[in-house]
Amino acid sequence: MSDVAARVVAVSAPGYFISFEGGDGVGKSTQARLLGRWLGELTGREVVLTREPGGTELGKELRAAVLHGQDMDARTEALLYAADRAHHVASLVRPALERGAIVVTDRYLDSSVAYQAGGRELGADEVELISRWAVQDLMPDVTILLDLDPAEAAARIRRQHDRLERAGSEFHRRTREAFLARAAADPDRWVVLDASASVDDLQAQIRVDVAARLELTPVVEEAEDTVAAAPDDGFDDSDSAIGYEPGRGLAPGAAAGPAGEGGAASA
Ligand code: TYD
Repeated sequence: MSDVAARVVAVSAPGYFISFEGGDGVGKSTQARLLGRWLGELTGREVVLTREPGGTELGKELRAAVLHGQDMDARTEALLYAADRAHHVASLVRPALERGAIVVTDRYLDSSVAYQAGGRELGADEVELISRWAVQDLMPDVTILLDLDPAEAAARIRRQHDRLERAGSEFHRRTREAFLARAAADPDRWVVLDASASVDDLQAQIRVDVAARLELTPVVEEAEDTVAAAPDDGFDDSDSAIGYEPGRGLAPGAAAGPAGEGGAASA
């Protein structure tokens, strides 16, 4: 196959969809960013790093309302997260996957099931159904759960706590249990990792697991080298939407060639 033909195949192939999940303060944003940069370098594909809530301009407004606005009942909260998700998928995630990008999202639908069903104690099936409807059943190829004792995670958050973070220790205990139960029920999609590990060790493990699940070429030594070398990409990890550019792509790194024959983001 000529270079031009190979490129056309790579660009027209569907992308890969990866989500990070876990409690507040477990380090998802840092790990998602490091993984995204590495995947761009490994595959030569476009990488889109995004998050929920707030991955789009409309999403930023919904994020402000749900995290920093007036108090609201659990159903309103669930619907706001679902609305953010619907717009996020329709306007950013699905188009990116269709052009063959790797989309790495910091939280997705499983957060609603863990927080609004587990934490707020709405029905899990109903909460999932609303989000499934919102995204027309688009589910990640791989979901990384960064698991940590909520007390330890809360101690890592140095800024002022938002509405969800203030929900109390029982709420966060239930949320954690809901994530773990959901992961245990679908081991093909989920990877559960202990988030008390160092940033570098955790990232190295994530790379091995993601590469294996997506059938990329896992190179453990390379993963360890590039964690330290990953340059700052300018993403702001803080809760504030300020400084976060919705759907901002990470430039593909030095192309190592397209990975595999395209992704498998379902639905
Ligand atoms: P996030 O910005 O990821 O917070 P952190 O970086 O502290 O983990 O998420 C914002 C909050 O919104 C977080 O407390 C989890 C909550 N949340 C839900 O309750 N339901 C959802 O569907 C999503 C996506 C997030």
